[in-house]
Formats: sequence, C-alpha cells, structure tokens
Amino acid sequence: MGRMIIQLRSARREDAARLVVLLGQLGYPTDLAAVQERLDYWLDDPSSQLLGAEDNGELVGVAALHFIPMLEVTGRFARLVALVVDDRCRGQGVGRQLVTAAEERAQNAGCVKLEVTSSRRRDRAHAFYRGLGYEDICATSARFIKPLRIQPLRT
Ligand SMILES: CC(C)(COP(=O)(O)OP(=O)(O)OC[C@H]1O[C@@H](n2cnc3c(N)ncnc32)[C@H](O)[C@@H]1OP(=O)(O)O)[C@@H](O)C(=O)NCCC(=O)NCCS
Repeated sequence: MGRMIIQLRSARREDAARLVVLLGQLGYPTDLAAVQERLDYWLDDPSSQLLGAEDNGELVGVAALHFIPMLEVTGRFARLVALVVDDRCRGQGVGRQLVTAAEERAQNAGCVKLEVTSSRRRDRAHAFYRGLGYEDICATSARFIKPLRIQPLRT
C-alpha cells in the first residue's frame, strides 16, 4: 500500500470548514457554526488535543484526543474521541500516522493507555484498530450510557 506523505499539526480555527466535511464523512453532518463552537472548547482545553493531517495545505484527517486522570491507579489514560481520514485519502497510511502521533502525545502527557470506542457496525475501522495493536475488550467490560438533560454549555 502506498504511504501518503502528510504533515501532522495541531488543528486550528481556520480548519473549521474542512472539519465540517470530515465530520460529514464520519457520519455526523454538521455546519460551520457548530464546528466553530466545538473548536472554542477543544482548542483551549489543556487536557485535549486535536491532531490534523495536512496534504498540500488541505486538512485530510483529524484525530481528537482527550486525557483522563485515573483515581483507582496512578496515572492518566487517553481517549480517541474521533478519528476520520478524508475518503479520497484512505488506505494510504494517514490513519496509522494519526494514531501513532496520538499515542506519542498521550505518552508525553503521562497516559498509560489509549482507548477508543467504535460502533459495532464499523467493521472496517475495527480491523484497522486491531492491526494497530488495539484489543476489543467489550466481552469483559460493559459500557453503560445514560443521556442527560442538556444544559447550556459553559466554556
Ligand atoms: C478508519 C480510518 C480512520 C483508517 O484510516 P486510513 O488512513 O484509511 O488507514 P491506514 O491506511 O492508515 O491503514 C493502517 C493500517 O490499517 C489497515 N486497514 C485500514 N483499513 C482497513 C480495513 N478496512 N480492513 C482491514 N485493515 C485495514 C491497513 O491495511 C493498514 O495496515 P498496513 O499499514 O500494515 O498496510 C479511515 O478509513 C476512516 O476515516 N474511516 C471512516 C471513519 C471511521 O470509521 N473512523 C473511525 C471511527 S471509530
């Protein structure tokens, strides 16, 4: 498989329009105003990093990373909150480079592990994660979710 040469860099406000496209491809259609609002709380958060993959000045992938402190053991872990590569650039190593960079950033932030959740229907993404050394632990670890009443967002 050919490996695409990309530049890894932090995402910035000017990436909002490209993020609209990438999030649409991830299955979350949105608009510029909504992404700008999200960037307001992403870019200023010291416990979060938005990693971008740039090709010829164009954002072609993004990995959203958040660091979570643990109490039951010492240290923190990282959560890959979102990952998407432009559908014109898939299968060329961009996703792998983003995940490797996310792992490095997480390690540098003192994280002992990285986790990602992914819908059961995303078989292809699961093969991708397995290939990068990630293990599906859902048979031994339940995941509970309860929607909460929405409060105005405090940034
Ligand atoms: C999943 C995704 C991020 C992977 O990015 P990518 O740039 O296409 O993947 P890469 O080219 O870096 O692949 C890395 C490795 O995973 C493997 N891989 C990638 N897609 C695969 C697939 N569909 N099935 C099996 N293996 C796969 C590749 O063979 C490659 O291994 P290699 O480097 O040894 O050849 C990208 O395909 C994507 O954005 N998909 C849609 C959105 C999505 O599902 N995001 C994840 C949500 S949890």
